[in-house]
Amino acid sequence: MVKIIAIANQKGGVAKTTTAVNLAASLAVLKKRVLLVDLDAQGNATMGSGVHKNELNYSIADVMLGDAPIEAAINKVESNYKVLGSNRELAGAELVIAEQEQREFILRDALKQIENNFDFILIDCAPSLNLITVNAFCAADSVLIPMQCEYYALEGLADLCQTIERINQTLNPNLEILGVLRTMYDGRSALTKDVSEELEQYFGDKLFQTVIPRNVRLAEAPAHGVPVMYFEKSSKGAVSYLTFAAELVKKMKKAAQKQAEQKQGAKS
Ligand SMILES: Nc1ncnc2c1ncn2[C@@H]1O[C@H](COP(=O)(O)OP(=O)(O)O)[C@@H](O)[C@H]1O
Ligand SMILES: [Mg+2]
Repeated sequence: MVKIIAIANQKGGVAKTTTAVNLAASLAVLKKRVLLVDLDAQGNATMGSGVHKNELNYSIADVMLGDAPIEAAINKVESNYKVLGSNRELAGAELVIAEQEQREFILRDALKQIENNFDFILIDCAPSLNLITVNAFCAADSVLIPMQCEYYALEGLADLCQTIERINQTLNPNLEILGVLRTMYDGRSALTKDVSEELEQYFGDKLFQTVIPRNVRLAEAPAHGVPVMYFEKSSKGAVSYLTFAAELVKKMKKAAQKQAEQKQGAKS
């Protein structure tokens, strides 16, 4: 069954898009069928995947406004995953969507039509908790939170967790936090270590073991329109995102097994 993961943090610059693009490519290497949905009007995940945001046949805004069937908006990219692209039209679309009935479920209903074609659907969210991001939370099974281990990292995290909790209790009872990924990690910095420890205490086993180090190749790859592994395969950035993808797949498999066992236990 498809896993739909929203990659979110209302802070900008914490590597949401970098994680979305490189996780998509890494899962594709693991032979998973992946759709990356760019849900940020900046269109960085679109461009970073090698699809020009201003030359889209149809964007996610067209799909959410009902102007295009979702199949027609999906682009195939060389890195073996598919992309539903975005551009500034999404900012305008939000106002129109806000007037609609069922306005929180527009993305969910659109994805339902194609979700069986994929093992993973990753949604790259904008740095905001607006209606478009709420659509991501209503479509998703879980939220992946990339975080930079800096002094203010934990600030704002409570808001994000509260929003996820509120949506879980009202609009989408399936929604849960998948985990927290430490990005731009500098193991030599005492501050990074302090914040990292705090995250461990706060999130326990929801904190992924893999950390993504600071790596200039990760910052350079988007200018070439490719995930880092197609830019420099042996870079620390490429290796760490592959390791992370493997950890994530393993964790999800374990969780599914546990759930199946619990179901079995409840029956007998
Ligand atoms: N591990 C990393 N090492 C170095 N630079 C990074 C790393 N992760 C992200 N970046 C850079 O940091 C900036 C913000 O990342 P981005 O993924 O766009 O964040 P967000 O989507 O959360 O706003 C970008 O310029 C990106 O290339
Ligand atoms: Mg981004």
